[in-house]
Amino acid sequence: MNVAPQDTAHVTIEPSILYFGTPVVLLSTENADGSVNLAPMSSAWALGRTVVLGLGEEGQTARNLGARPELVINLPGPAQWPAVERLAPLTGRYPVPATKAPGCRHEPDKFAAAGLCPEPSRLVGPPRVAECPLQLEARAERVRPGVPEGFVIVEAVVLAVHADRAIVVPGTDHVDPGAWSPLIYNFRHYFGLGPQLGHSYRSQTPGAA
Ligand SMILES: Cc1cc2nc3c(=O)[nH]c(=O)nc-3n(C[C@H](O)[C@H](O)[C@H](O)COP(=O)(O)O)c2cc1C
Repeated sequence: MNVAPQDTAHVTIEPSILYFGTPVVLLSTENADGSVNLAPMSSAWALGRTVVLGLGEEGQTARNLGARPELVINLPGPAQWPAVERLAPLTGRYPVPATKAPGCRHEPDKFAAAGLCPEPSRLVGPPRVAECPLQLEARAERVRPGVPEGFVIVEAVVLAVHADRAIVVPGTDHVDPGAWSPLIYNFRHYFGLGPQLGHSYRSQTPGAA
């Protein structure tokens, strides 16, 4: 097959990861002894009121959700990346599974290790992360094996949404996209959002562009 001249703009590569830039979330879940686990992840996206999560099956979070389905999906802002990174080498599992990344160590108190504060949830057992501007209380309705070996896919139904007043359009239930910014995990580097470029024809909030 002939190669079109414009295709020379691309090279075919074999990147070790495909983390192309998704928001970071912090999952609070309940351990078997009633204590709390907190873990960062970024393979998360929303389908209506359901959030789909991709998790390593050997992690404490996947174990917890398989046995105790309540969780909070906490969304940090860009300024909280150092706290997220403090959690990065930690696991709630003991002993640490051999499949964990080199340097990973067990930590039973992730909130203290990250310097974050637990705040009681309204409907579920695990606490919210007080510093996170968006907090979604949820219940994992399905936890099933992923196609890539070693992962589980979790479908979590959101039961309650808590938003910092500063990111809510006053007098409405809308999150102000000009005030809220997710923390983006972009090929293992942390970014915030740039300025607004436009808006969808379905947007219900007035925007700058
Ligand atoms: C920014 C960031 C994003 C991550 N995304 C994921 C993810 O999407 N899925 C996953 O299983 N692990 C992800 N991890 C790795 C987990 O946080 C890590 O395996 C951690 O040890 C899990 O903790 P746990 O074993 O206590 O659940 C991510 C880590 C960081 C720092």
